Amino acid sequence: MPEPVVVACGRSPIGRAFKGSLVDWRPDDLAAFVVERVLDRIPALDRDAIDDLICGCGLPGGEQGFNLGRIVSILSRLNVPGTTVTRYCASSLQSTRMAAHAIRAGEGDVFLSVGVESTTRYQYGTSDIPSCRNPRLEPGSTDRYPDIYIQMGDTAEIVAERERVSREEMDRFGLRSQERAVAAQDAGFFEREIVPVPLQDGRVMSADDGPRRNTSLEKLAALEPAFREGGSVTAGNSCPLNDGAAAVVVMSDTRARALGIQPLARIVSTGLSALEPERMGLGPIEASQQALTRAGMTIGDIDLVEINEAFAAQVIPSARGLGIDPSDDRLNPHGGSIALGHPFGMTGARILCTLLNGLQTTGGQVGLETMCVGGGMGMAMILERLA
Ligand SMILES: CC(C)(COP(=O)(O)OP(=O)(O)OC[C@H]1O[C@@H](n2cnc3c(N)ncnc32)[C@H](O)[C@@H]1OP(=O)(O)O)[C@@H](O)C(=O)NCCC(=O)NCCS
Repeated sequence: MPEPVVVACGRSPIGRAFKGSLVDWRPDDLAAFVVERVLDRIPALDRDAIDDLICGCGLPGGEQGFNLGRIVSILSRLNVPGTTVTRYCASSLQSTRMAAHAIRAGEGDVFLSVGVESTTRYQYGTSDIPSCRNPRLEPGSTDRYPDIYIQMGDTAEIVAERERVSREEMDRFGLRSQERAVAAQDAGFFEREIVPVPLQDGRVMSADDGPRRNTSLEKLAALEPAFREGGSVTAGNSCPLNDGAAAVVVMSDTRARALGIQPLARIVSTGLSALEPERMGLGPIEASQQALTRAGMTIGDIDLVEINEAFAAQVIPSARGLGIDPSDDRLNPHGGSIALGHPFGMTGARILCTLLNGLQTTGGQVGLETMCVGGGMGMAMILERLA
């Protein structure tokens, strides 16, 4: 059976939505730009030999509509089919997983997994229109379904309360994310994964907008709750709203060998969980356990762990549920989405870039990427570094 390997990956810097560097970029143009630059890294690959472009996008409507995957293929001047998938925050972890599955099934050798989101451009429409919600699923309906439409900030408050995560613990984690991201920026760490993006005013964007150099525990403690009166989830211990795109080239090990391309990593296993929507933040626990079981590993075998930082309220108990101390250096060693930002559809592929970069930098072999997903899900993937 052919094994799926990652042969190239890269990402745009992450812009802050509405007030950041990428507000003028359409998401389809940005994704196509990143795809072209990532393909430039593997000149041995004939671009027409790509079997499919699978594009992960959280809310694939408006400028992210029209089957974004095929739009990105056309904009990149590829003679390649294209499809668009959403699993909200884990959309481009899902697209990478689909590429891996197709390769293991023997139904293709080369896939592009793309992730993109422009929260700024939601102003031109999205796929989630509040008036289209099913009334039977609304809270208070006699059908008594789980609250599938619950806002993410509310889930963070619920998880913080049930898992007894204090405001101070969350703020400390938020600060840790900022400090680590700033240190990684200063060390040039992200330059290895970032595709610099030209801006309308002639500047070139080569660093994430997000990381805050001047924050402190005192400043974080002074922030008002963002989602609930008397709550503890704030702008400082949540991920912000963002724009960005990333791309991953997944190939069969046999094709990589035939083309003389050195794989960066092997996709070892994945996991996928469902849980009550209001506890969605804890999704990484079961998803990671599944991936570990399928890999025949325990958490002790993992050198680096990337838990997507939707909210400190959920990363802290998710880490503990996996047997990792939230202050452990193996966890998000270069900061995470609280500091860097979280353009939903992009983040699965962005974390893959950061995880492989981290494994290369630290000399680690095996990495775990895991994410919580709105609606009550979790996803995970284990990667083994090969270069
Ligand atoms: C939390 C949220 C509502 C805050 O929105 P916002 O008020 O527009 O947030 P901002 O990031 O612009 O921060 C507002 C201000 O708070 C202050 N602030 C935020 N983070 C700070 C920090 N770490 N230190 C100090 N001050 C900070 C700043 O004054 C900031 O203004 P500035 O960026 O102009 O300096 C929004 O970011 C959000 O919805 N996040 C969650 C997104 C989500 O649900 N994702 C899906 C996860 S599953």
